[in-house]
Amino acid sequence: MAVSKPNSLEAKDTTFLVHPYTNLAVHEDKGPMIIDHAKGIRLYDQDGNGYIDGLGGLWCVSLGFSEKRLRDAAQKQLETLPFSHSFAHRSHKPVIELAEKLVSMAPEPISRAFFTNSGSESVDTAIKTVWYYNNALDRPEKKKIIGRERAYHGVLCASGSLTALPYASAGFDMPVNDRFLKVSTPCHYRYGQEGESEEEFATRLAQELDDLIIAEGPETVAAFFAEPLMGAGGVMPPPATYFDKVQAVLKKHDVLFVADEVICGFGRTGKMWGSETYGIKPDLITCAKQLSSAYLPIGAVLMSEQIYEALREHSAKLGVFGIGLTYGGHPVSAAVALETLRIYEEDNIIDHVQAVSPHFQKRLRALGDHPLVGDARGAGLIGGLELVRNKDTKENFDPSEKIGPMAVEEAQHRGLLNRATPFDTYALCPPLIVNEADIDDMFDITEAALDAVKARIG
Ligand SMILES: Cc1ncc(COP(=O)(O)O)c(C=O)c1O
Repeated sequence: MAVSKPNSLEAKDTTFLVHPYTNLAVHEDKGPMIIDHAKGIRLYDQDGNGYIDGLGGLWCVSLGFSEKRLRDAAQKQLETLPFSHSFAHRSHKPVIELAEKLVSMAPEPISRAFFTNSGSESVDTAIKTVWYYNNALDRPEKKKIIGRERAYHGVLCASGSLTALPYASAGFDMPVNDRFLKVSTPCHYRYGQEGESEEEFATRLAQELDDLIIAEGPETVAAFFAEPLMGAGGVMPPPATYFDKVQAVLKKHDVLFVADEVICGFGRTGKMWGSETYGIKPDLITCAKQLSSAYLPIGAVLMSEQIYEALREHSAKLGVFGIGLTYGGHPVSAAVALETLRIYEEDNIIDHVQAVSPHFQKRLRALGDHPLVGDARGAGLIGGLELVRNKDTKENFDPSEKIGPMAVEEAQHRGLLNRATPFDTYALCPPLIVNEADIDDMFDITEAALDAVKARIG
C-alpha cells in the first residue's frame, strides 16, 4: 500500500479506483500523481508543481486548458438544453450545426457525420458501418478488416481487435474473431531492409497488402484501417509513396479505406487532416480527441455519400439503422466541439502549427545525435524519439529495462509530462497553441532527461 495519510486523496485513490492502462499492483505501492488544476499548456499537481503538458493530455488537448470560449460554450448549452438525443428523428441545433461544420472541413469525398463519445466508439462504429454497408450491397462475405502491426485504434471489442500492440491484446483475448487481419508496420527506420529506399519499402508493403487480399479472396476483404501517422504505436510517419501505393491496391480490390484520424485530425500533422498531409482519399474517417480539444468527450465517424446511400437503402429495408449511443452528439459536447472548430478557423490554428512546427521538428531531429536516440521522427507538432541500445545496429533495449518510462520519469522530475510508447519511443505531442519558447523548454528538458538516463544506465 502507498504510504499516505488515511482519508487523503491518495489513500482513497488506491482503495477505490481502478486505473486504466496501469499496473494495478505497482499502483497500490506507488500511489497516484494527482493533478489539481491547469493553466495555458501547464498542469499543476497538489503541491503546486507545474508541468508542461508535453502530450496534450492523451494527444487531445489542442487549445490548452484556459480557453474561455469553450468554457462559455459549455455553460451556455448547459443552461439551454443539457441533454437531448438524436435517436428516431429527434435532433437539436448543436448536433446539426456540428455535422454541417465538420463535413464542410472534411476532405473529399466525405459528406455525412455520425457522432460517438470517443475514438474507440468511433472505430467500433466504423467497423459495424463497413459490415452494414456490405450487407446492404448484398456482399455478406466481404467482411474482413485489415489493420497494421503496432496500430492503435482503441480498446473495445472491435477497435481492440484492430489494435495491434502487445499490452492491448494481452489478457483480453483480442482479436475477438478471425475477421481481423494485419499487415506490416510502415516504419522505414525499424522495418526497412538494408539498402532499401523509402519508396522501395513502400512498394514492398503495398505488395504485401495485395498478396494478403488475393490470398484471402478480395470478395472477403471489406476495409483497410490506418492512422495517417501512427501515434500510440511509436509515432511513425509513413514512408514516401506508401499511401499512394496502398490506395491503388485497395481500389483494385474494391476495399474501403478508413482513415483513423483520432490523433492526426484537426491540425496535428500541419494540415487539418492527416489524410491531407499524406494524400489519402478516405471513404470513412474516425475522429475524436482534438474535435473538442478534449474539453468534453465526443467522437465522430465521417462517411462518403456512396456509403451513406447504401446505409439509407438498407435501413429502409430493415426498418432502422440500428446503431446509436445515448450520448452520441450530446448537445453540450457538440456545442463545445462546434466552438472548437470555430476557434481553429478564426485563430488560424493551421497557420500557427505551420509557423512553429519547423522549430519543433528542428529541435526534435537535433536529438537524433544523442547517444540514446536511434531515430527522431515526426510531422507537424508530433514527434517521437526511438531510444536504442546501439545506434549502429538499431538494437532495442529489453522492455524489462523500461528505458522509455525512465526517460519519461526524468522529464517529469524536470517539469515535463509525456509518455513512452511501446518499443521505447519517447513521444511529444503538445497542445497546438505552443510557442517557440515552450518548444525550447520541452526539448531542453528532454535533452537533460536523456542525459540523465544515459548516466543512470552507463
Ligand atoms: C488512432 C487512435 N484511434 C483510436 C483511439 C481510441 O480513442 P479513445 O481512447 O478516445 O477511445 C486512439 C487513442 O489514442 C487513437 O490514437
